Amino acid sequence: MAHAYDDAYRRSLDDPEGFWAEAAAAIDWDRRWDRVLDASRPPFYRWFKGGMLNTCYNALDRHVAGGRATQPALIYDSPVTGTVRRYSYGELTDLTARFAGALAAQGVGKGDRVLIYMPMIPEAVIAMLATVRIGAIHSVVFGGFAAKELATRIDDAGPKVIVSASCGIEGNRTIHYKPLLDGAIGFATHKPARCIIVQRPVAPCVLDPSRDIDWQAAIETATPARCLPVEADHPSYILYTSGTTGQPKGVIRDTAGHMVALKWSMANVYGMAPGEVYWSASDVGWVVGHSYIVYAPLLHGCTTILFEGKPVGTPDAGVYWRIIADHGVRALFTAPTAFRAIKRDDPHGKLIGQYDLSRFRTLFLAGERSDTDTVQWAERMLGVPVIDHYWQTETGWPMVANAVGLGQLPIKYGSPTKPMPGYDISVVDADCRPLPAGEIGAIVVKLPLPPSGLLSLWNADQRYIDAYLSEFPGYYKTADAGYMDEEGYVFVMARTDDIINVAGHRLSTGAMEEVLSTHPDVAECAVVGVADQLKGQVPLGFLVLKAGVDRAHAEIAAEVVAMVRERIGPVAAFRAATVVARLPKTRSGKILRGTMAKIADGEAYTMPAAIDDAAVLPEIETALKGIGYARVN
Ligand code: COA
Ligand code: AMP
Repeated sequence: MAHAYDDAYRRSLDDPEGFWAEAAAAIDWDRRWDRVLDASRPPFYRWFKGGMLNTCYNALDRHVAGGRATQPALIYDSPVTGTVRRYSYGELTDLTARFAGALAAQGVGKGDRVLIYMPMIPEAVIAMLATVRIGAIHSVVFGGFAAKELATRIDDAGPKVIVSASCGIEGNRTIHYKPLLDGAIGFATHKPARCIIVQRPVAPCVLDPSRDIDWQAAIETATPARCLPVEADHPSYILYTSGTTGQPKGVIRDTAGHMVALKWSMANVYGMAPGEVYWSASDVGWVVGHSYIVYAPLLHGCTTILFEGKPVGTPDAGVYWRIIADHGVRALFTAPTAFRAIKRDDPHGKLIGQYDLSRFRTLFLAGERSDTDTVQWAERMLGVPVIDHYWQTETGWPMVANAVGLGQLPIKYGSPTKPMPGYDISVVDADCRPLPAGEIGAIVVKLPLPPSGLLSLWNADQRYIDAYLSEFPGYYKTADAGYMDEEGYVFVMARTDDIINVAGHRLSTGAMEEVLSTHPDVAECAVVGVADQLKGQVPLGFLVLKAGVDRAHAEIAAEVVAMVRERIGPVAAFRAATVVARLPKTRSGKILRGTMAKIADGEAYTMPAAIDDAAVLPEIETALKGIGYARVN
C-alpha cells in the first residue's frame, strides 16, 4: 500500500489545483477564489486569484469566534528579564486590533509598509499581525543588523511607520536599539513619518517628540481596527535576505498562498493538532520566525512560544528543557547550531533529566545542514524523532521534509528526506539536464512554486528573474547543490553562490567583501566561509594591501573586523582576516574562494585546472597557519 506521503505528493503534482483547493478549505475566505492557479503571466504565477481574505482574521479573530478566546495564543518566556506572560487568543486579538488602530491613526493603510526592528517581545508579534490586519505590508529587520544595513532596508521598503523598542537583551548585555534606529534613519534617504517605540523598563530611551510615539500611549488612545479583506496575492510582507551583493533581496510573500501552505504544513509536516503548544526557537527577524513563531501556529489554533534568550547561558543549557516542561511543548523547531551549543555545554545531557519532557513529541531542525553527530546526540538524549528539513526565505515553508503528520518515513542521516507537496525537485547539470541518482548538481524546482513561494522581489522584478529563473529555464534555482538517491531522498550539500550560513543565519560574503574593499589600505579582498564547530560556518577575510602600505597586518585586520561589525552587524560573526600577497585566481580572473576555504579547513584539495599561478596556494596556506587555520584535521 502506498504511504500517505507518496499519495499526497503524487496528487500535488498530478492535480495541483485540486490538491491546493482542498487545503484552502481550512482557511476562512471573505470571497472564494476564481482560479486556484493563475498561470496567465509566467513567471509571475498567482495562487487563488480572485479570492479575498485577511491573515490576521485567520490567525486571531477566527479562533475567538470559534471558541478559543481563553486559550493561550502566545506565551512570552524571557529568561533574560525573568518574565513569563501568557496572552489568550482574546487578549491578543484585542491588543492587535488596538495597535492596528494606532497604525491607521498614523495614516497607515492598505499597501503601506511598516518596518519592524524589534527584539523578541510580544509587541513584535502584535505589530506584525496588526500590520496585516489593515492590509499594510510589514518588513521585519533582524535586530543583529547594524544601522547601515537597516538603512538599506528602510530605503528599499519605504516604510510610512517604523516600530521599534528602546532595547534588546542579548544574554547579559543590553543592546540599545534607539541609537541604531536613529543612526539608520540618518543614513537613509527615505524618512518614515513616525516611529512607534516600545519603552522597555530595563532601558527606556529618549523619544524625539517631532517623530516618535510611545507604544503604550499609542495603544491606549487607539480605536480598534477591523480586519480588511485583501486580494489573495496582496503582499503580506517583505523579508530581506542576503543576496550575493550588499543589496539584500526583498522577498515578497502573498496572502492566500502563504496561509494555505502554512496551515497545511502544521498538521501534515509538523503533526500538530489545534490547541497544542508549538515552539520555534528562532527570531521574528528570520523567515522561520515569521512562519513558525507567528503565522503557522496561530493559523492552526496552537499556542506559540516567544522565547527571548539563548540556548545556553540564559541561564544554562537546560533552558530549552525547562520551557518544554513548563509549557507542555509538543514540537520544537530550531537550528542545529543551537543543539551544538547545548551539546558543548552539557555533553551528557545531565540537565535534561531535571525536567519532565513526557509531552514532547518531535524535534525539527532546519536553517543549515544537520550534522549527523548532533542529530544522533539529540535522538539519544531526548528519545524522540529528530527531523531535519530544508527550506528558504523564498519559499516560506519546507521544500524537503519528513512529514510526520502523514506518517514518518525512515530517516537517512544527512538528508532532510523527500520533497514536500508541490515541489517538483530535480538535480540538474549546468545545461539543466537531470542527473542520475547520487550525482551532485544544482537543486532546482519546476515552476510554478507551490503556494507561499515568493511573488517577486520588492521593486525588482527583473532581479527576481535574473537571480532565480534565468539560469535554468522553467525552474526555480535554489542556489543549493546536492543530490537525490534512488529512493528520492534529497541531500543538500552546499550553496552554489557566495552565501554562507553562520549559526543558521544566511549571510553574503559579497556584502562583506564590499565592506573590506572600502578600507583605505586594501587593494583587493575575498571572504570565504570556513568550518566552525559551533556555528557551522564563519566568515574569514583575505586582504591584499595596496603597494607601499607598511602598517602592521594585525592592525589592519582588526580594523576590517570592526568595519564589518559596524556596517553589517554583530550577526556576521566576522572575527578574522589575514593579509596575503595575492589571491589565487583562475586564468579568467575568478577568485578561487572554494579552494581557499578548503585550505583554511585543513581539507585536501585538488589543484584547480584553470589556476593562473599555482605558487599562490602555498602562500595562502602559510598565511592561514599564521592565524591558526589550515591545520590538518
Ligand atoms: N540583536 C542584537 N545583537 C544580536 C542579536 C539581536 N537580535 N542576535 C545576535 N546578536 C549578536 C550577538 O550578541 C553576537 O554578538 P557578539 O559578537 O557581540 O557576541 C553576534 O550577534 C552573533 O550572534 P549569534 O550568532 O547568535 O552568536 P552567539 O555567539 O551569541 O550565540 C548560538 C551562538 C549558537 C547560541 C546562537 O547563534 C543561537 O542561539 N542560534 C540559534 C539558531 C537560530 O536562532 N537560528 C535562526 C534561524 S532558525
Ligand atoms: P534562509 O533563507 O535564511 O532560511 O536560508 C536558506 C538556506 O539555508 C538554504 O538555501 C540552504 O543553503 C540552507 N539550509 C536551510 N535548511 C537546510 C537543511 N535542512 N539542510 C541543509 N541546508 C539548509
